[in-house]
Amino acid sequence: MEYRLLGRTKEKISTIGMGTWRIGSYRSSEEREGQVLALRRGIELGINHIDTAEMYASGRSEEVVGEAVKDIRKDVFIASKVAPGHLHYDDVLRSCRASLQRLQTSHIDLYQVHWPDPSVPIQETMSAMERLVKEGAVRYIGVSNFSVAETDDARAALTKNEIVSNQVEYSLSNRYVEAEVLPYCDREKVTLIAYSPLAQGRIANSIPNELLQKYKMTPAQMMLNWVTRDEQVVAIPKATNLAHLEENASSVSVRFDAAEYERLTAG
Ligand SMILES: NC(=O)c1ccc[n+]([C@@H]2O[C@H](COP(=O)([O-])OP(=O)(O)OC[C@H]3O[C@@H](n4cnc5c(N)ncnc54)[C@H](OP(=O)(O)O)[C@@H]3O)[C@@H](O)[C@H]2O)c1
Repeated sequence: MEYRLLGRTKEKISTIGMGTWRIGSYRSSEEREGQVLALRRGIELGINHIDTAEMYASGRSEEVVGEAVKDIRKDVFIASKVAPGHLHYDDVLRSCRASLQRLQTSHIDLYQVHWPDPSVPIQETMSAMERLVKEGAVRYIGVSNFSVAETDDARAALTKNEIVSNQVEYSLSNRYVEAEVLPYCDREKVTLIAYSPLAQGRIANSIPNELLQKYKMTPAQMMLNWVTRDEQVVAIPKATNLAHLEENASSVSVRFDAAEYERLTAG
């Protein structure tokens, strides 16, 4: 596994993390156990970054993550998110405490604002985030689905901490962030956490055969390798199928040359 520095910090997170949207929705205890085991397997494969949110499966995603890491908490970097309806000061504190309980942990490594809410002053939200850092409940502050202007406002609202990351949709099929957000992240050393990097399972059929054969990779592996070609990007594919998980964990073991990345981009 390859690891990258989070923002301007010295924290190393795996280039390939694990997303958990839809984890926590299960129809049986066996299915739930399968989700716990998938996360455990990912950690064994060197993935140390798990992404969850209070919104996912109404908190049950955090519960599954908590169970998966309870005896190996120190080895894992847990990122969670406060929902857009909870961005007032007291709501942020309440949401974080509830997430800590569901995660069975004393701290969240990266706490992110899930979506901006223009009706709540960002100063109010960031002031609560800084209080959580001061209390030791949160280590780093991040945002998600923020534009460049919204990220600048969030940074300006902080007094002692930095915005270390912006989690946004990015894949071969959705390159919207390349216009402004990615260049900004590169310039300002803010980690871009790519969500839905496999286009929610709609795996690209445009990958040149010659590259698939040369690198002996699957199209999904190529998508993950491509999306993390920039040093400032990490990706958080979701996989509960163990074969998928193993593919994803080994997707960045080699790097392609610039011309090959361009061929992938062109499709
Ligand atoms: N901040 C936000 O607003 C936001 C929004 C959306 C998502 N996210 C985060 O980003 C994570 C990832 O995004 P996502 O869940 O939307 O979609 P994704 O990771 O792009 O795709 C997940 C789908 O791809 C399949 N898959 C995984 N690995 C594969 C492989 N090697 N080959 C073929 N198929 C594969 C999975 O199947 P199996 O599960 O069966 O393996 C699943 O159906 C989420 O789980 C969540 O943590 C954040």
